[in-house]
Amino acid sequence: MQTRGQQQRKRSRCAGGSGTVHGEADSSASAASGLARASERKERRREPRMETTKNTTSTADATPYRVAIIGTGRPRKEGENYTGFGMSHAHARGYNATGRCKIVALCDIIKERADTFNGEHAGGAAQVFTDYETMLAEVKPDLVSVCTWPALHAPMVIACAHAGVKAVHCEKPMAPTFGEARRMHEVCVARGVQLTFNHQRRFLDVFQSARRLLKEGRIGELKRMEASCGDLFDWGTHWLNMFEFFNDEARGQWVMGQVDARRPKAVYGVPTETQGVCAVRYENGVFGTLLTGEGSGEIVGCSIRLTGSEGVLELHNSAPSLRLRGPGDAALHTPDDLQNVGGLHGDIAITRAIADMVGCVGSTDKTPLLASDNAFKTTEVIFATYESARRRGRVDLPLAIDDHPFAAMLDAGVFPDAVAEGAPKDAISR
Ligand SMILES: NC(=O)c1ccc[n+]([C@@H]2O[C@H](COP(=O)([O-])OP(=O)(O)OC[C@H]3O[C@@H](n4cnc5c(N)ncnc54)[C@H](O)[C@@H]3O)[C@@H](O)[C@H]2O)c1
Repeated sequence: MQTRGQQQRKRSRCAGGSGTVHGEADSSASAASGLARASERKERRREPRMETTKNTTSTADATPYRVAIIGTGRPRKEGENYTGFGMSHAHARGYNATGRCKIVALCDIIKERADTFNGEHAGGAAQVFTDYETMLAEVKPDLVSVCTWPALHAPMVIACAHAGVKAVHCEKPMAPTFGEARRMHEVCVARGVQLTFNHQRRFLDVFQSARRLLKEGRIGELKRMEASCGDLFDWGTHWLNMFEFFNDEARGQWVMGQVDARRPKAVYGVPTETQGVCAVRYENGVFGTLLTGEGSGEIVGCSIRLTGSEGVLELHNSAPSLRLRGPGDAALHTPDDLQNVGGLHGDIAITRAIADMVGCVGSTDKTPLLASDNAFKTTEVIFATYESARRRGRVDLPLAIDDHPFAAMLDAGVFPDAVAEGAPKDAISR
């Protein structure tokens, strides 16, 4: 007899098997049904994992997964030739640490980067390509990491899905428009491809500990969450995704947002606001507020604050990173066992994220903690915030737009100050 997961996968494959990329993708109703399937899967997997999970398929342990990485980059500040952080290097360390993966192919439009990467992470044994479609067709990898800038995420993920890749681990943010984010999510759901996004911070000890304290009731019932960071799109995706992590993966119900653009900047080629405000009500009644840009840290007073019916839990960039005020506590303090819980950053999180996603490939009863279902909900809140600014009103979800409202507003000259101070540059700005 088939399990419910097998039945779902079979239905998904049938639904997507004969459609085109556009035909497979273009409706928010379909995205919503993907989320519904996701919440069913969540029923089977309530608590986040820290350990490396074991695959349930019998051959996986014997034959290593054949891994390809697109966008090999160079690590930031190591040498002259970096254009970003070279996130791919942390992905490679993660695959190698599983002991169940072999990096067999690399692709970068700058071949020297892939060649250097090959020596560093694959013993020089991987095939090197400068065109990802050729690589997918010739190598037919089992797993692919997409480590390019956001504008390339959707075409690359969708190409992987059409090439028969089993699982794709893609860097965040999902895509520069909501339509592309929806399409990549839906194509993978329809084709039964496991898609994850690298919101890796969920695997850091400090966030895992905060979630554990929350679930133990140490601040009572969660009522609201606040956070601050540089921008909604590039950084905000981490914190809004973390809101979901703390809030049982609840979906947003409505969003109110505002943005200022007096000094717009491009982060990885995508325009972002100078300051932003996002207020979201989740379907379970919990509220979230994310402030971005200038002054946001001072207004919120920490990186993330969780307020419960009986206390407060704060996460700070400076030590101690975790501070708690529970029932009976006069002030915020750090429990003795969490004095050395670590900070809000760290590549170990990517190693753990890849172990988790590799451990779920082919499984019918496990869902990766970084599944695209929750990344899609995060992305919906991000674009709904910009859409709220465009509409000058509350946006009820699901979100039915396809574009990037902030980019469209910039193009339309909605922010006269921004025009006076210069258009976004195609460069990383952090
Ligand atoms: N998860 C995190 O905490 C985190 C941190 C930093 C960056 N990121 C994200 O990671 C992604 C990549 O950022 P990065 O800093 O590693 O970038 P990077 O510039 O270091 O590397 C990107 C690489 O992609 C290559 N590339 C460009 N076009 C290509 C193509 N058509 N085919 C193959 N390769 C191509 C470039 O030559 C470059 O080597 C971005 O989406 C960014 O937002 C995530």
